[in-house]
Amino acid sequence: IKLKYISLAILVVQNASLILSIRYVRTLPGDRFFTTSAVVMAEVLKEFIVLQYNSIVIQYKDTLKLAVPALIYTLQNNLQYVAISNLPAATFQVTYQLKILTTALFSVLMLRKSLSRIQWLSLLLLFAGVAIVQLEQEGKQKETTVTGPSQNYAKGLVAVIVSCLSSGFAGVYFEKILKGSSASVWMRNIQLGIFGTLLGLLGMWWNDGLAIAEKGFLFGYTPMVWGVIFNQAFGGLLVAVVVKYADNILKGFATSFSIIVSTVTSNWHGDFINVYKPRN
Ligand code: C5P
Repeated sequence: IKLKYISLAILVVQNASLILSIRYVRTLPGDRFFTTSAVVMAEVLKEFIVLQYNSIVIQYKDTLKLAVPALIYTLQNNLQYVAISNLPAATFQVTYQLKILTTALFSVLMLRKSLSRIQWLSLLLLFAGVAIVQLEQEGKQKETTVTGPSQNYAKGLVAVIVSCLSSGFAGVYFEKILKGSSASVWMRNIQLGIFGTLLGLLGMWWNDGLAIAEKGFLFGYTPMVWGVIFNQAFGGLLVAVVVKYADNILKGFATSFSIIVSTVTSNWHGDFINVYKPRN
């Protein structure tokens, strides 16, 4: 009975506002939208809402579990900008591979995976490789040629190390949730994305709220920036699929392999020096 009156009351408000707002947008001067497209758009939106309602709202306890990796990934995605802005690309890439070690540790602890001796050995080898690059960079840093004037090597290094811890934990946590239930990887991504958007907005407001209020959300978005954003979004979805069909450790080795691929291809294109070597 309660729902009966609540739904009727909402319908009254909705209907009145719908008619008035349609009248308003159709009588405004300037470009008019195509009404046929608005009809289609409303249908699509309705389907989308119906589809999501059950999995997100009804099973809200399940949805809440995704708040944990969403928070960590939001921090990680912001830290990555700090790291890449303060470290040469090659140093970042190589140091970030430490995440394979953290991923392996979390996989053993949280997923009860067991690793063979040769697998542990490869991880140690990886760690040694990263350490060597660090020592080499430290030597160069004394000559103050590694970073530009506005870059802070130590800050970049802390950001990348925290990102490694975060990547390992959030990745394995997501894998555990994904493989521990029948919900689809797409549903998990939507749940993750809802929290990711909310937390990201919070971080944005906290850090850049005033500047964004003044200059606008899309300030400085060049086509190249759009490219970065699309690449990041596509990469995120790809990670989810890879984690579903393979696992986080394999994902780590695949992305390390991409360093070799990008190094070789940049060399062929002759821009290795520009992209991967620190500027002198
Ligand atoms: O470096 P790492 O592999 O940890 O980066 C994972 C990236 O994938 C993060 O940017 C994270 O936000 C994104 N991701 C995602 N959806 C998932 C899992 C990860 O967008 N389901």
